[in-house]
Amino acid sequence: MWNGITFDSWYERFSRFAGDLYPGRYTAEYVRELVEMARRVRALAGEKSSTIVAHNYQYPELQEVAETVGDSLGLSQYVARQATPRVDFCGVLFMGETAKTIVGDRSRVYMPDRPGCSLVASIDQSRLDNWTSHHPDGVIISYVNTDAATKARSHYVCTSRNAPQVMAHAAREFPGRRILFLPDKYLGAFAISQSGVDPDRVDLYDGACHVHMKIGETALEEALDRHPDAELLIHPECGCASSCLAKTVVAGPAHGKAYYLSTEQMLWHARNSPSREFVVATEMGMVYRLRKDVPEKTFHPISMLAVCEYMKMNTLEKLLDSLERDRVEILVDGEIQRRAHAAIRRMLEIE
Ligand code: 13P
Ligand code: SF4
Repeated sequence: MWNGITFDSWYERFSRFAGDLYPGRYTAEYVRELVEMARRVRALAGEKSSTIVAHNYQYPELQEVAETVGDSLGLSQYVARQATPRVDFCGVLFMGETAKTIVGDRSRVYMPDRPGCSLVASIDQSRLDNWTSHHPDGVIISYVNTDAATKARSHYVCTSRNAPQVMAHAAREFPGRRILFLPDKYLGAFAISQSGVDPDRVDLYDGACHVHMKIGETALEEALDRHPDAELLIHPECGCASSCLAKTVVAGPAHGKAYYLSTEQMLWHARNSPSREFVVATEMGMVYRLRKDVPEKTFHPISMLAVCEYMKMNTLEKLLDSLERDRVEILVDGEIQRRAHAAIRRMLEIE
């Protein structure tokens, strides 16, 4: 399975699919170093019986060395099915914590680093206490981009793939009670519009992802001017999601081609769409995944600025170091783990 780690195949693939995304990164010399490190990573993963997984926003070399690549929900479900004593999670810290919450004592979870996330950072527990104290019977839905302590005080967790379904389910299960959605106001607004839940019943926390918030309507319209035949693949965390959605409803010609998708749903959509060309409105790691998995179609990043510096804190060098020295282990407090796991399980039962 890992015989594909050769200089020729990686150099060809990175030059073809990632050269414009990461200008100057994939020189022949650096790819040679990456291939050496990747072979050591795979050998160590074998020795230590580790399952390596990577989020769609990770650097290409981390996507290549992982056993599976996916979105937050897909990776959580994948990790839940593994029985290996070790998991090496290439993503941001809340994802590693979610994996640890799910596997509990069954496996040790390691990461190359401990990258944060601006959505997680937007949650302040005292502000949250204040917010929830105004709605003591509120039903809390936390986006998976939260820390374990916030998940533990939530009724449900959701991801970008299932936020509308979770919101609709919560509204049915708890009739008459307010729904408190946190932390991403753009994903929350998208979930309200797709779930059919009365907007007056939902309170949205005022958080946003700094990478997606910058992707506004102007960026989309400029991208469509450059690529008029392309479909738009829009992550619902984007600052433009609600306004573009409103336009889609009246089906202006351009916005009629917009789709609101989690990262993994973008891949499924691109495979099945009759369209040959797409503008990808999310972090640019996703563009590499799409180009590699659907090579017969064309994918344009929405902007060269759509880079999550947290996701990019993980490198193959750090993954190798963490595997060699058992360095960055992720732990979650027992009681928090138990309660956060219950909120995650409630989400998985809705699927
Ligand atoms: P996905 O669940 O769509 O992969 O999104 C995670 C994320 O962090 C988006 O910024
Ligand atoms: Fe967090 Fe935004 Fe980075 Fe996703 S892209 S991990 S939401 S900071």
